[in-house]
Parts: sequence; C-alpha cells; structure tokens
Amino acid sequence: MNKLSKILGASVLGMILIACESTTDVNSVKGKDKKLILAHRGASSMAPEHTLAAYNKAVDLGTDYIEIDLRMTKDDRLIAIHDNTVNRTTNGKGDVRSLTLKEIKELDAGSWFDKKYSKERVPTIEEIFDKYGDKTNYYIETRLVDHKTLMESKLIDIMKKKKIKSKVIIESFSASSLKKVHKLDSKIPLIQLNTYKSTENFTSEKIKKWREYSSGVGMNAEIADKNLIKLLHKNNLLVYTFFFNNEKKLTKKVIGLGVDGIFTNYLDYAKIVIASTKK
Ligand code: G3P
Repeated sequence: MNKLSKILGASVLGMILIACESTTDVNSVKGKDKKLILAHRGASSMAPEHTLAAYNKAVDLGTDYIEIDLRMTKDDRLIAIHDNTVNRTTNGKGDVRSLTLKEIKELDAGSWFDKKYSKERVPTIEEIFDKYGDKTNYYIETRLVDHKTLMESKLIDIMKKKKIKSKVIIESFSASSLKKVHKLDSKIPLIQLNTYKSTENFTSEKIKKWREYSSGVGMNAEIADKNLIKLLHKNNLLVYTFFFNNEKKLTKKVIGLGVDGIFTNYLDYAKIVIASTKK
C-alpha cells in the first residue's frame, strides 16, 4: 500500500468513526420496544400540571415517563413550569425569569385547578428527582433562556449528582439546546420536537440533520400518517406524538399507525388503547 492510500484509508476510517460517534443510538431509549406512555405535565387531566400531586398520580398509574417542562428562575434555579409566566398555573403574576425561587415558592400552584390542591408548590427539578428517584423515568423539555443555552449544563450536573442520568430523555423544540446537550454528553437520548403543520415539512435535509444528534422526533398527532412514520423509522428515528385537541380520537389513530409513544393527558385512556392493540 503506498503512502497516499494509507492516508486515504485512515481518513475514511476516521470519518466513519466520527459519524458513529455523533449519531445517537435509538437503542439507548429506555423501553423503546414498547409504546411509551409519557404523562404530559404529570397526570394533568387529574391534578394541576407540574405539581407533585400530578406526578404522584402519574407514577401511581404506572406511566413510563413523567414529562417535565423546565424553566429558569431569576436566580438560575431550574423549575417545572410550562408557561414563561406564572400567571396561568399559580395565584401570582410575572415572568418566571424575573422571579426568584423563593418568590415562586410562595405561590399556590394548585387552586387554579381545584381548591383542594392549594398547598401545591412549583417544584424544582432537584425536588422531583429526590421524590421519585429511579421509581420512574423523566422526559424533560429544555428551552432557551434569554435566547441562550443556559440550562443544559446545569441540568446535566443535577442529573449526574442525583444519579438519575440513565432515566432521562431530553426533548426540545430548540435544536441548539439539543446540540448543546449532545456536546456535553452524547449518551443522553434526545428528541427533536416540532410544530409542523404538514408532512411536507419533514424534508430529507431535516431528517439527516436530526439524525446527527437525535434519537427521535416529537410531533403533532394531527398530521402523523403511515408514510411519514415509516420514513422516520427507516431513518432510525423514534416517533412520539402530542395533541393540541381531539386527543382521545387521535390517540387511537396514532397508536394504530405505530408511533413509539404518546404525550398523554389521559393516562388511563392511553393505557386501554395501547393494551387493545396487543390483542
Ligand atoms: O412536550 C411535548 C409536547 O407536549 C410539546 O408541547 O406545549 O406541552 O411543551 P408543550
């Protein structure tokens, strides 16, 4: 072998190894061989979303994962809350990012749902991990903070400290957030979320990019169809669907289509539909 072919051979091998290293492995997703029930914001049709009451119910009902939206407080603490303000889900007012954890902890996070939940507080991610440990799995949505990737390394540090890393999938609408996680720890399974309104948005360029860091996609159940799911699976991407409306009708549709899991607000119903497909 001459010198040039040796150099070329080594370069090709190097490129293959880099490709293998940078592509996430869907097999690292816990429970990927069954249809996963992801308790959307906890058991959110039964108790106030993102409170320990909602997570308790989800864990008791045997969810595969509790789904958690993360936001960062003024003093850089990671808390579970969906909106960028506390207005809808607490008795307070203001942007999450303009309030300290102490200020947010004073708020009632349950009465808006039912007065009997008035003692519920907005939980930190540490409190959630401490409470459930390895009794459940965690499907955590990261977001940009002040348009920057500020929460990723903090979250990973907490996951490691609480020895919970193998129980977590991270999802995000932000590709930069997911790429940051992938750079920090390429072993964490990642799911790229999108709000596409048409299957035509799933171009081969996008699928190729997602494959570089993601184990799958999270998408609107409304537009999911057989060909798209087949295409994503062929590209080694798992498919999870969420619902903006018509959840019960669409649950039957997407489970029938062969998605890998659903972000459900109705855990009992999701379990029945999934069980019926096994008969
Ligand atoms: O988290 C997955 C999906 O439910 C996204 O919607 O608005 O609940 O974060 P959202």
